[in-house]
Amino acid sequence: MDPQLLRLATAGSVDDGKSTLIGRLLYDVKAIFADQLASIERASEARGTVMDLALLTDGLRAEREQGITIDVAYRHFATPRRRFIIADTPGHLQYTRNMVTGASTADLALVLVDARKGLLDQSRRHAFIAGLLGIPHLVVCVNKMDLVDWSAERFARIRAEFEQFASRLDVRDVTFIPVSALHGDNVVQRSTQMPWYEGTPLLHHLENVHIASDRNLVDARLPVQYVVRHGEFRGYAGTVSGGTFRPGDEVVVLPSGVTSTISAIHRPGGEPSPYAFAPQAVTVRLADDVDVRRGDLICKPGNRPEVGRDVEAMVCWLGDRSALSLGSRLLVQHTTQEVRATVQVLRYRLDITTLHRDESAASLSLNEIGRVTLHTHAPLAYDVYRHNRATGSFVLIDEATNDTVGAGMILRPAAPTVVWHRTEVARATPGCTVWLTGLSAAGKSTIAAEVERLLVAAGRPAYLLDGDNLRHGLNSDLGFSAQDRAENVRRVGEVARLFADAGVVAIVALISPYRADRDRVRARHADTGLSFREVHVDTPVEVCESRDPKGMYARARRGEITGFTGVDDPYEPPEHPELVLRPDDGDVRALAARVVALLT
Ligand code: ADX
Repeated sequence: MDPQLLRLATAGSVDDGKSTLIGRLLYDVKAIFADQLASIERASEARGTVMDLALLTDGLRAEREQGITIDVAYRHFATPRRRFIIADTPGHLQYTRNMVTGASTADLALVLVDARKGLLDQSRRHAFIAGLLGIPHLVVCVNKMDLVDWSAERFARIRAEFEQFASRLDVRDVTFIPVSALHGDNVVQRSTQMPWYEGTPLLHHLENVHIASDRNLVDARLPVQYVVRHGEFRGYAGTVSGGTFRPGDEVVVLPSGVTSTISAIHRPGGEPSPYAFAPQAVTVRLADDVDVRRGDLICKPGNRPEVGRDVEAMVCWLGDRSALSLGSRLLVQHTTQEVRATVQVLRYRLDITTLHRDESAASLSLNEIGRVTLHTHAPLAYDVYRHNRATGSFVLIDEATNDTVGAGMILRPAAPTVVWHRTEVARATPGCTVWLTGLSAAGKSTIAAEVERLLVAAGRPAYLLDGDNLRHGLNSDLGFSAQDRAENVRRVGEVARLFADAGVVAIVALISPYRADRDRVRARHADTGLSFREVHVDTPVEVCESRDPKGMYARARRGEITGFTGVDDPYEPPEHPELVLRPDDGDVRALAARVVALLT
């Protein structure tokens, strides 16, 4: 963490005087520090430090990458002691969404209270969200003190009321400051109107609040963002999200659990570094050639995060076109990976003004917060949010629209709602999956049927899972959207895996146009130790179109069908198929024989 940079989140409506306060802060700071600022600017120009600006925009870029760019305005200012980024969110209807967005990386939250009105629901909500997001410091500015005759008694009453509410929240450090934003009292300069106030003005507090130790410096965590390969060089790049790493450290890669030793650490420019600590961006090299992928987490063997597929979390729902309910299927973006997840339990919806828990709630809609249990389709390596804001949080994405629909904070591991029952049966012949992918009319089904015939004739159990056929039953509820095709491929992949597990050769013939969907099926097979062979039936689209047995290409060209693979929807060929079959390679029997040869 850069102790020179303070991220500050504020929310509220115009009435609170929030804009006046920010305006006053910026205005007075400028007046006072104009000279010093000019000299800082000259100094960094002379040193050619473009870095500073990059640092300022870093966090914002991350937010943008997550697709969250909602009504949050960022303002930057600096004093000789510190640089500040204010995330300012409008406080009307979409308060939760905006606050969550603006405040997710904040060091400090500023809550405004109108001295005349006392603690309103809105202030309670802001304080609650600050606690929920684990913002380490909270400043309550009791504003418009000029309109209550600078009353010490009024200030004390609001303070007591707030403290009582805050005692039920998870906020660690709360500071109260009586101000008049309009007149500038206790904003940048100490007020002469309130001699009874013994604290410092707002700016002084912002400049001095101790944030260096807020970040988790103990639990070493490096989520892998990219695998870097050039020639012999192999490294794992990412942003350290906790603790420190040094060359020579023994590390473990999760979820696989393989161990190795750090052989070198490089900074973004490529220069070697004797250590890496949060939140530095680094590339780490390992002594052994182990399998590390994007989304894996590098940590230390003696200090591991939780690894599991069931988590309990507080979720803020941010979607305005859909709601969260029991059984909702969503994408979870956690550190550098995305996994599918299902909502298993909705324990309660929380009224963030009264803190009442509604256990009969059936859904969460826009701006609502609730406690849920999620079951992820692949294991997550995570910490609870209280210990690590980076590895303990996630974003929920609607797979169909790619919209960000929620933000979540992991509270604890959940007891798995489904458990795996082991059986101990030894099978004579192991099964496997052969997956034929390619365009419509490429010849997949014809080749697959021949493979099935050959295998069965040779006494080997085999079964053809044909895309068109399965769409009559198991997959009759699916269409051809990207999401439906992904589900089609997932289901057929699971069925194939079961056949393979039962000792049968599952022969799949499915367009399965998207690489990522097929790769997931491959990974599922690898997870359970089953063999998966990908065969690309690589018939050029012109040839498929000239065959066109069902007249589909013609209909697609006439615009009667849209999203037809090869016409107006992409086909992503496999990068490393076990076999490629082209029409010139021979007739159906010859092609099928090559597939069979792959299995022996
Ligand atoms: S996949 O893309 O989800 O893998 P699948 O193999 O199950 O497709 O089904 C493909 C069959 O559906 C093709 O034989 C084709 O005739 C028919 N079909 C109907 N609409 C489409 C479409 N938009 N894209 C591709 N195939 C389609």
